[in-house]
Amino acid sequence: MNALIQGGVPGVSQEPSFNLLDDIERLKREKNAIILAHYYQTPDIQALADFVGDSLALAQAADRSTADVILFAGVHFMAETAKILNPKRTVLLPDLEAGCSLADSAPPEKFKAFIEAHPDHVVVSYINCSAEVKAMSDIICTSSNAVRVVNSIPADRKIIFAPDKHLGAYVQRVTGRDLLLWDGVCEVHVEISIDKLKILLGKHPDAKLIAHPECPPEILAEADHVGSTSSLLEFVQRDPARTFIVATEAGILHKMREAVPHKELIPAPAHANNTCACSECPYMKMNTVEKVYSALLHGSPEIVLDEQVRERAEIALRRMMQLG
Ligand code: 13P
Ligand code: SF4
Repeated sequence: MNALIQGGVPGVSQEPSFNLLDDIERLKREKNAIILAHYYQTPDIQALADFVGDSLALAQAADRSTADVILFAGVHFMAETAKILNPKRTVLLPDLEAGCSLADSAPPEKFKAFIEAHPDHVVVSYINCSAEVKAMSDIICTSSNAVRVVNSIPADRKIIFAPDKHLGAYVQRVTGRDLLLWDGVCEVHVEISIDKLKILLGKHPDAKLIAHPECPPEILAEADHVGSTSSLLEFVQRDPARTFIVATEAGILHKMREAVPHKELIPAPAHANNTCACSECPYMKMNTVEKVYSALLHGSPEIVLDEQVRERAEIALRRMMQLG
């Protein structure tokens, strides 16, 4: 066993040793495990992963997987989604505390009362929600396909969109549909400062601003491109601009820098109280290489779901997956 782990303080070291990385590879082989990682994970975890992607691509990768164990390097709702789609497989999350402010903004009992108060509405829930909320929804969406999902609903049907009010308002503007929005936000994307952003844009007049749709409307109004993490990554490769200001969690910059090393990529500035100056998701950053190793070694922490909740959540998720 690796000395870092034998020392008994998993998660303390920031510099994974070669042995630790080798041990993870060995455990993956022994346990027939794969590692799925979101773009907001630290570069060392992304390097370990068999697949790195946005929420939709990760759900699709989990669905395709034939591994016995799926280790999800992301946040709780993402690992839960993998479990909803793979009830017979073991799904591990390196730190069960890795939550999401959007998912937390929609407690199941409050959400139940909300949808019961609007029984004539189709319920569209952003994938950033709990399995219980998914189970109460008609269809799920991600930032990649939210417009497509809403457009798939007959024009005469009323729609609830939850839990992200900024993504919901963006989808409303694009589709022209009147959505009843749940009042949730991502605490990371609302931290991006429009005032600082405007100063930065003034200093880089040729830069293109690209933004995740969880950003507030005043930021999206300035953006040259709005899209999911995958879409932002694809845009910096396709667009001829040399400089991009990136309004989302700073983890995405790792893959962007690998993809376009010759281009200048500037993280959008956060409000003054954020000491790192760019936006970091504290939940995504709870995962470490040491916790990945520990989870694979012990087969824990594992995602466990109530089967009735899982079955209902799977129906809503599969409706989305059929749309692509
Ligand atoms: P993506 O699906 O665009 O990767 O977004 C996930 C997320 O949590 C954004 O904050
Ligand atoms: Fe949730 Fe925001 Fe973190 Fe994404 S960045 S996982 S929406 S808290």
